[in-house]
Amino acid sequence: MCAAVRVATASNARILSSLKPPPNVVVVGGTSGIGRAIALSVARHCPSADITIIGRNESAANSILSQLGSSPKFLRADVSLLSEIRDVTKKINKVDILILTQGILTMAGRTPTKENIDNKLALHYYGRVLFVQELLPLLRLSSNGSKVLFVLDSVNGNPSKINWNDMALENSYSLSSAAQHATSFTDHVIQYFALQPENRNITFTHALPGFVRTPIIDNLPFWARLPLKCSVAFGLGVSPEDCAELMIYGMFGTEKGYRYVDDKGETVNKKHPIQEDMVTKVWEHTSRMISSN
Ligand SMILES: NC(=O)c1ccc[n+]([C@@H]2O[C@H](COP(=O)([O-])OP(=O)(O)OC[C@H]3O[C@@H](n4cnc5c(N)ncnc54)[C@H](OP(=O)(O)O)[C@@H]3O)[C@@H](O)[C@H]2O)c1
Repeated sequence: MCAAVRVATASNARILSSLKPPPNVVVVGGTSGIGRAIALSVARHCPSADITIIGRNESAANSILSQLGSSPKFLRADVSLLSEIRDVTKKINKVDILILTQGILTMAGRTPTKENIDNKLALHYYGRVLFVQELLPLLRLSSNGSKVLFVLDSVNGNPSKINWNDMALENSYSLSSAAQHATSFTDHVIQYFALQPENRNITFTHALPGFVRTPIIDNLPFWARLPLKCSVAFGLGVSPEDCAELMIYGMFGTEKGYRYVDDKGETVNKKHPIQEDMVTKVWEHTSRMISSN
């Protein structure tokens, strides 16, 4: 374990074990990889935390539920669909910490869901914002101040690469534009949420996990998967467990408003500047998209 992970783990243990009352934690994407490791880490540091994981894979969920503290829950939902997000969030009564790790790695082009949003953009961006939007009333009630963590890519967003004329990428979709829109929009939207006076009790963190050895690469075509598998075999990347500690550390390190953190959980200093009117534009677009289904 490297020094950064040791420091992060000790800090997470100190913070999580001292939270009174113990937190209600919702991990979307908690059935695998980084989300799963975050749920398990929270349970280890704070066995009385109330942990809910959300995903589709019931058997994966069942395999960790017994390790998720005193009142573990699994809520099944396809979170590429806004309608399912609306339904599943109605089943949540309390939340102090919301972790958003749902995602896929695919080389496929635009793949519309039945709600006509690209699947990847729905998972990596629009659906995540809808989770926050639906849970804001509960997050605002948290007695310890609440935390929202977006695990995606806090480093490479660049407003100059946003296609402002086709924000949903209905006509100009490419893998790089989809990645850029999801990451840049997340950079903008956490500023929007943090700027609302009603959300002053909530912090918003966008984190880059780095290269993490999770099953996310398993769905890639063979030729794309092979080099990644070889890199993993040669020891490249970090374990989901180490990544989880660094992500939680980054989240707790955001004391106010919003923050971008890197794969060590530290502040990203070199960000492309974001203009206020761009924040408004991204919010207006996002709000239209998430209310249209
Ligand atoms: N691993 C990396 O190196 C890396 C690097 C940079 C960024 N990231 C980002 O970090 C996030 C987590 O990645 P990971 O490596 O932990 O991936 P992972 O192990 O494949 O886990 C992805 C999670 O997303 C959930 N998910 C995917 N599609 C879903 C759907 N339609 N409905 C409900 N849940 C769905 C999966 O749950 P079910 O299978 O139960 O549906 C699973 O819990 C992703 O957004 C990824 O883009 C990862």
